[in-house]
Amino acid sequence: MLEPANTAAAPRGKLHAIVAEFDDVTAVTEAAKRVRDAGYTQFDVYSPFPIHGIERAMGVRSTRLPWIVLACGLSGTAGALLLQWWTNAVDYPFKISGKPLFGIPAAIPITFELTVLFSAFAAFLGMFALNRLPRHHHPIFEHPRFKRATDDGFFLAIEAADTRFDANRTRELLQSLSSHPIVACDEPADDGATPRWVRAGLVSVAVVALIPFALALASRFQDSSKPPFHIVGDMDWQTRYRAQAANPHYADGRAMRPDVAGTVAFGELATDQVLATGKTGADWTTKIPLTVDAALLQRGRARYGIYCAPCHGIAGYGDGLVAARASELQEPTWVPPASLHDAVVRGRAAGQLFDTILNGVRTMPAYGRQIPRDDAWAIVAYVRALQRSQNATTEDVPPAARAAMGL
Ligand code: HEC
Repeated sequence: MLEPANTAAAPRGKLHAIVAEFDDVTAVTEAAKRVRDAGYTQFDVYSPFPIHGIERAMGVRSTRLPWIVLACGLSGTAGALLLQWWTNAVDYPFKISGKPLFGIPAAIPITFELTVLFSAFAAFLGMFALNRLPRHHHPIFEHPRFKRATDDGFFLAIEAADTRFDANRTRELLQSLSSHPIVACDEPADDGATPRWVRAGLVSVAVVALIPFALALASRFQDSSKPPFHIVGDMDWQTRYRAQAANPHYADGRAMRPDVAGTVAFGELATDQVLATGKTGADWTTKIPLTVDAALLQRGRARYGIYCAPCHGIAGYGDGLVAARASELQEPTWVPPASLHDAVVRGRAAGQLFDTILNGVRTMPAYGRQIPRDDAWAIVAYVRALQRSQNATTEDVPPAARAAMGL
């Protein structure tokens, strides 16, 4: 018995599929195997939950999607490599630091990204295309009991598009497998197409959406003396003066205002002349104006290691790595760094050493920009310790130790 799904007089399209209903997983799986063995390929099984192994029972071949993803991924790889090679090595060759114009390692990030991007698009859109999505309606929904497919109904539909399909023989096959009435589902008479007004609306929206792009494109080929049109102005167009521009607001007409006389940056106020310049009146101070203790010496030692040792050497003999390298290369303009144990340098007042660090001396550069004032004093203290260590006498050894050594 073949029941048409639509009993009403509504005009129907051609037959879509013949559908059988089953009561449980075993029955529908068994039916799927029989339909598969009968040579049908265009049929589908609908169940309230995934049935393990149903694809084998149906003889479904594995999806082609991985191949599509592979092909698109590889074209992403090739496209990225080609584009980078062409732009960097062919179209606009530009030598940077003597590096090759095109190198695989530098091209990896973009290549990786494009491979992943193309693969993701292929997986997403390929899935849609292979499943013929999006689809708003399906003829199987005409089946009066098909809603049960979300509850306790198992359905098997053989489509009329199958080459082996024959209305009578297919129906007989299904009838022999199912105890429920067999139902024929027709395509809807109207081809299920989207209504005209919806299509017209979509087309108009699409056309309107292209207008901004068309305007942008058109403006690329036009000259204009007007300032560029910004949709979001941010802070680009605020009223302000540029650094070197004139500003009529001030008597001297300058937009860039000099500091008010006596301006001192926060925390930079030098109230103590000795501490700030190393001078008492016109003379260099001979005393370090900070408390010299182990902590200060440690600080000085660390800063010396960073800023001075490269030239003056760890022990201060002017044999640092920079000096060694310069003499190895026989640099013609190189002035060897002074030995800090030189009698002249040892004779310098603490304030003068301090000044040498901050302002440099002759060919030695100034380090005032890198080294804060207190650090400079710490270095002076450490230089003093270095000098003493290299010019020590027996009197410098503590009496107890001296006695122990029999001196
Ligand atoms: C870039 C190498 C270089 C660095 C770094 C350097 N110096 Fe010098 N320094 C020199 C040279 C070169 C001279 C000798 C300058 C001359 O005679 O023209 C010199 C000279 C000196 C003198 C002797 C100045 C005098 O009164 O004759 C002192 C003291 C000194 N440096 C201390 C320091 C201290 C402390 C530091 C670390 C803050 C330091 N230098 C960092 C290259 C350097």
